[in-house]
Amino acid sequence: MKNFLSVHDVKDVEALAKEALKIKQHPFKHKKLGKNKTMVLVFLNSSLRTRLSTQKAAQNLGMQTIVLNLGQDSWNMEYEDGAIMKGTTAEHIKEGAAVISEYADIIGLRCFPSLTDRDRDYGEFVLQQFLKNIKVPLVNMESATVHPLQSLTDLITIREFSKKKRPKVVLTWAPHVKALPQCVPNSFAEWMNRADVDFVIANPEGYDLAPSFRGNAKILHAPKEAYKGADFIYAKNWSSYEDYGKILCEDETWMVNTEKMSLTNNAKFMHCLPVRRNLVVEDAVIDSKNSIVIQQAGNREWAAQSVIKKLLS
Ligand code: CP
Repeated sequence: MKNFLSVHDVKDVEALAKEALKIKQHPFKHKKLGKNKTMVLVFLNSSLRTRLSTQKAAQNLGMQTIVLNLGQDSWNMEYEDGAIMKGTTAEHIKEGAAVISEYADIIGLRCFPSLTDRDRDYGEFVLQQFLKNIKVPLVNMESATVHPLQSLTDLITIREFSKKKRPKVVLTWAPHVKALPQCVPNSFAEWMNRADVDFVIANPEGYDLAPSFRGNAKILHAPKEAYKGADFIYAKNWSSYEDYGKILCEDETWMVNTEKMSLTNNAKFMHCLPVRRNLVVEDAVIDSKNSIVIQQAGNREWAAQSVIKKLLS
């Protein structure tokens, strides 16, 4: 593996999930692999889980870690070619990324989408600018269109908690007050489409994911139909891809609640977190024994460690 940018860098998602579960049993077995090596984690946006789990994973492999909140701890970066830099940006990505690369053996990058320019976001403009100017492997810690460390975590968690070889997994849209990116659902869809699961997406009209991400997944526009017989309910809000970045639906009946969960096969509840309670999911569901959101977040460490291990190897 040269970089970890999306599912396309992974030959076999099920094999990688198995490897991550092995690492979970023996986290320090490869403690010498990263000796005298450094991972620099660059954040253009906030994070709790990704920031902590990726650092911990790198440290479990013996690496040193440096976290850089770009634009807060460092200069504001310019990304446009040929820019006349008379504004607020003090350093061009051509030097900025290249200099980070001088100090790093692996770079992690978080760069959310604008949600205003679909072509720029779906072309992964910022991530590509980094990629062009560095000479070490890049780990995507959530970019404009995908969040592959989260999706690998989700697959690990499904395998860990599934009683069936081929469980029914439902990704359901849920309401939110802010326009959120499509990264988590896009990425979840492309990983589930490659995993051995019966995958269904439930979302309101106008919220279908981009065809390249939803693939051949079954799409339903009525939540109750989707919940029937589900083994896992994965909730997430996203803004519209078609009417890019817009909130088109505020229908609270899409919130995950006990009534809809009762239609499932005693399904486990999943969410990548952070989650807004009683908007995306009601307290009674997230506080129930079927909620595995904390265990899911815990698995972020093993997902990151399996990826970093592959890059070091
Ligand atoms: N799920 C996730 O990526 O969490 P953070 O945004 O807190 O890193």
